Amino acid sequence: MTESVPPHDAVLRAAEYLRARIPARPAVGIILGSGLGSVAERPPILAAIPYADIPGFPVCSVEGHAGRLVLTEREGVCVAILQGRAHRYEGVALATVTHPVAVLAELGVRTLVVTCAAGSLDGAEAGTLMLIEDHLNLMGDNPLMGAGRGHLGSSGFVEMAQAYDPALIEIAEQVAGASGLSIRRGVLAAVAGPTYETAAEAEMLRRLGAQAVSMSVVPEVIVARALKLRVFGLALITNRSGAALDRQVGHRQVVAVAESRADSVAALLDGLLRRLATA
Ligand code: HPA
Repeated sequence: MTESVPPHDAVLRAAEYLRARIPARPAVGIILGSGLGSVAERPPILAAIPYADIPGFPVCSVEGHAGRLVLTEREGVCVAILQGRAHRYEGVALATVTHPVAVLAELGVRTLVVTCAAGSLDGAEAGTLMLIEDHLNLMGDNPLMGAGRGHLGSSGFVEMAQAYDPALIEIAEQVAGASGLSIRRGVLAAVAGPTYETAAEAEMLRRLGAQAVSMSVVPEVIVARALKLRVFGLALITNRSGAALDRQVGHRQVVAVAESRADSVAALLDGLLRRLATA
């Protein structure tokens, strides 16, 4: 069993550290997946703080994950962007993987946007944008292990039906429609990795009802829901799950496809923030 639940004193320490270094309080948090880091590179950059400097934040060892928190303003909304994340397959406990989510909530974030690269299970092509409408947690772990004794929710039994805010999904579809961006909905399966799926595993996940599979997002969403944040999830299809993907070429391909679609992801998120700002 891995240590779980972001420890509360560590969350408070990180929030205190950040409060002293950021000029405004974020209302929205965005976590960027592999290859999507450029979404955080546009001005204004109000603050940029390496994870290595923030108490308890994980070190990002995977290519395509810069590992810094960027504070910006988009469409009149103050946004904290997490440029990269840690993963279970790096040997990192889910308490550490999800610590930044708990810190964002402590800073006042009420809406969390999670993005990831994902493999498709239904033949969807690389470059497809999928709004996550539900998930299957098949990681064999849960960040709320031990939460009954912790601070995240009173009992540790957290409601997960409609974890992905239906109103935000609808707004995103309207935004995509208005800007001619092709987008679809689907269920995301989360596996621990780091292996990609065999053909048989991809078929199993498809039969279980998922349209895409990734090695992230789900632990963050679980902690976000325990903390009552609104959640919006976006998966970027970078390859077909279960198809031959050399381990080395594989991750590079994932990053390259994600990089090529980062502008579309940024446009969709800007449209969503515009609507949130005026709601
Ligand atoms: N499987 C799991 N995670 C992924 C994949 C995949 O095929 N592509 C990008 N992340």
